[in-house]
Order: sequence, then structure tokens, then C-alpha cells
Amino acid sequence: MHTSDTPSVPVPRALLFGASGPIGRRVLERLLAHGWAVTALSREMQTAREGVDWRRGGFPDTIGESAGFDAILSCGPLDLFSHWYADTSTGAARVVAFGSTSVHVKADSPDAAERDLAERLREGEARVSQAARARGAVVTVLRPTLVYGGGGDRSLSRIAALARRHGFFPLPDDALGLRQPVHVDDLADAALAALARAGGGARAYDLPGGETLSYREMVARTLATLDPPARPWLLPAPLFALAVAAARLCGLHDAGPAMLARMRQDLAFDDVPARRELGYVPRGFEPDAGMFGTGDAG
Ligand SMILES: NC(=O)c1ccc[n+]([C@@H]2O[C@H](COP(=O)([O-])OP(=O)(O)OC[C@H]3O[C@@H](n4cnc5c(N)ncnc54)[C@H](OP(=O)(O)O)[C@@H]3O)[C@@H](O)[C@H]2O)c1
Repeated sequence: MHTSDTPSVPVPRALLFGASGPIGRRVLERLLAHGWAVTALSREMQTAREGVDWRRGGFPDTIGESAGFDAILSCGPLDLFSHWYADTSTGAARVVAFGSTSVHVKADSPDAAERDLAERLREGEARVSQAARARGAVVTVLRPTLVYGGGGDRSLSRIAALARRHGFFPLPDDALGLRQPVHVDDLADAALAALARAGGGARAYDLPGGETLSYREMVARTLATLDPPARPWLLPAPLFALAVAAARLCGLHDAGPAMLARMRQDLAFDDVPARRELGYVPRGFEPDAGMFGTGDAG
């Protein structure tokens, strides 16, 4: 029975950026399930729900009060968040911020826009870590590889949408670079584990999925989930390159040469530190049709 003498347990408070995105939605669910009171930022109006205080705002404009939180989580653009965090007067709240393995992959890209992205990610990580150190906060940067499972992503959901329209998806026969697609739920679990991680200071973890497979096999498994199933249409690599260049000239797609070259490149990362320190156990790649819609998917 509750009496006035019973000490009440304070409800932990989290400030969440990017809560409307594929990863952020899953992080929000987990925070609520674990008893956090969440203040979530969005530039759009969001549906009210118990436990969430939605505030309108976005970077770089006003995003509201930052004090009094036990944790701050960023599931949106890391560079924008890093500027806000470095400038805000917030205290020593734990910080968990999503970055990307693009920080490794795109640093030496022949494409200037991709190099710029890698540089912004690198600077964002450094800025957050430096600010956290100065205020004695514990900060964890999580770097996912290719993300799926929330729907509406720019990689596998986009491939699935094109294949639904045409019944097939063209691929060069040498698209054998390794991939480790990672499910949004595994990333959200990692974010919650990072809130509780032992040890102080700043740490960054690569978060690949639990299975390493070729780009070609990843696409084939994605297409096989569609109703009716679609198939990869394998073309000799030189023919594929010609077709892509022609389609690009006609404005039919925006895949640049760097993106196409990456289909042959191995993008595989070490998950041992995350497994050891965050108890990270990502699932293998077993997609189903519901994962490649336009919105959130189970
Ligand atoms: N999806 C992937 O394949 C992938 C791969 C590697 C790394 N990541 C990283 O993982 C994180 C989450 O990715 P995601 O795909 O779930 O979401 P995302 O599409 O990268 O970001 C969407 C979220 O960011 C918020 N946002 C965007 N611009 C903003 C601004 N100017 N001010 C405030 N909020 C802003 C949006 O909020 P509102 O629109 O509601 O304002 C939305 O909730 C990001 O850091 C991303 O770089 C993603």
C-alpha cells in the first residue's frame, strides 16, 4: 500500500531527437516500455500519446529547454545534433547518438558529396565527444550499417518499390561486395543498452547486422519477399554500367558511379566491441514483405 512515507522512485527523463524516424520510433517504444518519461522533438505535428511530451522544433532553430534530463538521444542527423549539444547548457546527462559506418566507407569516395558526408559524420562524433568530456557526461555513438525493418528506407525499401513496379530488379553480375543489413529493432535495443553501459567517457561502436552476405544475395532475399516475388535480373557488368549511365542521363535514377562501384566493395564491420560491451546480438537477415513498405513495419 502506498503511504505518504513510501519514498517515490523518480521517473527517469529522456530528451529524444529524431523520434519520428525509422530508428527513433523503435527507440521511443523501448524508452516508454522501460518507464522513461520522454520529451520528443519533431518539426511536424505528432499524435499525442501517454508518456510522451511532443515539442515542435528542429535544428538549427529553437529546440526548447535542454536541462533536467537523465539522457539525451539523437536518432536524426548527427552533425546538426552535435552543434546543438556543443552549444547547449545541458548538464551531465548520458548521451546516445546515432552516426553511421559511412564515416569509414565514404571518407575516400570519388564522389565529393559522399566525402563531405563522411567528414560531417567524423566532425559530429568528435564534437559530441569533446563536449561530453568537458561536462563529465558519458557519450555513446552508434554507427549502423545498412538499416532495414522500419519501412521507407532509402536502400532495401527503395529496391523493393522499384521491383514491385517492374517485376524485376537489374543488377550487375559482379555485385558480390559483402553487406551486413541491420534491423531497426536491434539498433533500438543497442541504444537502450548504451544508456546503461558500464564505463565512462566517449565510445563509438560499429553496429552491423548479424549476417554477412553478398549484395546480390541481400537483394535476392528482399525481392523474394514480395507478392508476387520478384527476381534480380543479372546483367554482365559492362552492359549494366552502360545501361545505368544512359538511364542517369535520361533522369530515370540518381545512382552515381561511386554507389555502383560499392556493389563490388566489401562493407563489413567488427561487432565484437558492441557484443562485449553492449550485449549486442543482432539477428540474421531474414526479411519479410512487411519490412519494405512505405511506413513503419513490424
Ligand atoms: N537508415 C539508414 O540506412 C541509416 C544507416 C546508417 C546510419 N543511420 C543513422 O541513424 C540515424 C537515424 O536514421 P533514420 O533512418 O532512422 O532516420 P533519418 O531519416 O536519418 O532521420 C529522420 C529523423 O531526423 C529528424 N530530423 C531531420 N532533420 C532534422 C532537423 N533539421 N532538426 C531536427 N530533427 C531532424 C526527423 O525529425 P522530424 O522530421 O520529425 O522533424 C526524423 O525523426 C541517423 O543518424 C542516420 O544517419 C541510418
